[in-house]
Amino acid sequence: MVNNIIILKLGGSVITAKSKPQTLNVRAIKNIAKIISEFDKPIIVVHGAGSFGHYFAKRFRISNKQTTSTKAIIQIRESMIKLNSSIIEIFNKYKINTLSFSPISMYNKKNILLHWEDYLKKMLNMDMVPITYGDMILGSKGFYIISGDVIVKDLTRMLNPRNVVFASDIDGIYSDINDKSTLIKKVQLNKRYSINFNTQKFDVTGGIQTKLKQALDIAQLGTNVQITNGLRPRMLMKALNGEHIGTLITGD
Ligand SMILES: Nc1ncnc2c1ncn2[C@@H]1O[C@H](COP(=O)(O)OP(=O)(O)OP(=O)(O)O)[C@@H](O)[C@H]1O
Ligand SMILES: [Mg+2]
Repeated sequence: MVNNIIILKLGGSVITAKSKPQTLNVRAIKNIAKIISEFDKPIIVVHGAGSFGHYFAKRFRISNKQTTSTKAIIQIRESMIKLNSSIIEIFNKYKINTLSFSPISMYNKKNILLHWEDYLKKMLNMDMVPITYGDMILGSKGFYIISGDVIVKDLTRMLNPRNVVFASDIDGIYSDINDKSTLIKKVQLNKRYSINFNTQKFDVTGGIQTKLKQALDIAQLGTNVQITNGLRPRMLMKALNGEHIGTLITGD
């Protein structure tokens, strides 16, 4: 039995330089590796695509539709494998027992296969850190992009974690992204908020709007979610420990 599972989504905006094609943010990955290596609860990591996957998805114009273009599928998947390998390499230097896999092995028709509950819990019991990522997976008419944010929601439904943290390059959700004094500390279900979103250059999976939607679905499941800044290690550490530091999305 594993209790107190934490699910961490590492945004592509943290682990890559999102505006520079295929560029890692090595310093950020190292800071996060240090935090995870010292963290004492079972943790699952899902990472985003940043300037790796998003860049190619945009180039091949396949943001939200299924595709059979083998060239696009292969390039996007290859770029995600490269990003994932670089992260694992750094994590392993920090003695994290990473066990990485593409979501292609977990999903069947938009659902995570049931035996993965047992797989993941066994890995966590062995002190491993399962790590997966936004990727292209099989749909009924070809391959489609599954966002890391959606994977986190699906894993939450399966594993009922203690809390979920989305780490991005902002302290939380702002009413107005251009005014840093408008950070929303708490988002409650069934309340109305006025939020201004800007569009990202390389984001094909809906950016912060997708994140907020998944966070609301997770809160609906009864799990608290925080959106916080993965570029600020102390903030991230506090959020992982359940302290209210960014935008808290909650059912109560
Ligand atoms: N109202 C808002 N509040 C907070 N962030 C916002 C808002 N509107 C737009 N954003 C943008 O959303 C971005 C974060 O979402 P984005 O999807 O780009 O990051 P990510 O999920 O970390 O990356 P990836 O999708 O590659 O995993 C921020 O960089 C910010 O500029
Ligand atoms: Mg995103």
